[in-house]
Amino acid sequence: MREAIEALVMEFKQLKRSGEEHVLLAPERLQSLQDAVSHMATHPAEEGKESRPLLKVTRRDQEGPSVFEQSMQDKASLVQEQAPRLTPSESAFPAPPSIELPDGSKQEQWDWLKERVLSCPVCDQNTPRGKRIVYGVGSLDAEVFLCGEAPGADETVKGEPFVGPAGQLLDKIMATAGWTRDELYVGNIMNWRPDTGKRFGNRPPTSEELAFCLPYLKAQVAIVKPKVIIALGKTAVKGLLFGEDNFSLGRVHGQWHEFEGIPVMPTYHPSYLLHNGTNQAKRMVWEDIMQVMEKLGRSISERQRGYFL
Ligand code: URA
Repeated sequence: MREAIEALVMEFKQLKRSGEEHVLLAPERLQSLQDAVSHMATHPAEEGKESRPLLKVTRRDQEGPSVFEQSMQDKASLVQEQAPRLTPSESAFPAPPSIELPDGSKQEQWDWLKERVLSCPVCDQNTPRGKRIVYGVGSLDAEVFLCGEAPGADETVKGEPFVGPAGQLLDKIMATAGWTRDELYVGNIMNWRPDTGKRFGNRPPTSEELAFCLPYLKAQVAIVKPKVIIALGKTAVKGLLFGEDNFSLGRVHGQWHEFEGIPVMPTYHPSYLLHNGTNQAKRMVWEDIMQVMEKLGRSISERQRGYFL
């Protein structure tokens, strides 16, 4: 049961990272969750863990916000309790690699970098046996570079970014804008899936993990030389633009920024839309994508302009 609750917390964390600020639960669902948490708190031996409650759950109909309606800040500290804590020795993460691309064609540079990433000992150590390190794919002449955060379970099996449900939705969004996947380049800030030590859930990379992988992403950007980068979700935006968490994706999405002199459009991660498929959420992302189309001189039909209104 503890594992299921922890998976749920990880899920909330993932939602928060991809821009979700609220999660509404029906009272009976909330009650079940509350019962499960109380059960764990009062039966620690059964769970084999200490009795510290994992979540403080309140009903929506009680005065004040429920735990699911607290501010992002509150949720951050809530999920932080669940995040693996780094001991001093673990926190001495290796320094980021220094990458100097060899002379040669884009393809030669890309092949060289791929080899470098796939043989990176730190990436290897962080990739469980039987899973794969994930390197970017796509057209080396792409005008749009899609930057995600970290591979998920499906990606570490295939060794390619965005091949799972979020990737399929990303393909649909980009197709709606007129791009096929093979015209784009798709990469992630992280080359490995941050380990949760559990069977379920994802966790955001630590700042050290992020800083370690960033030079690999930067080198891919230097090879492709896209006209625009789309940063998908909070971790990608953090890695490319801000380096820290104290910004709101809700505020920065839809505004142009720069990475290495290349315009960056921050937007929500497709997994956010998988969890929040409202027209309002779709429209927010779509407006960001239309800005990219405009920047690249693509015509936008009346029909396209009206999507999700
Ligand atoms: N989410 C990402 O950010 N990247 C992937 O490759 C898959 C899911």
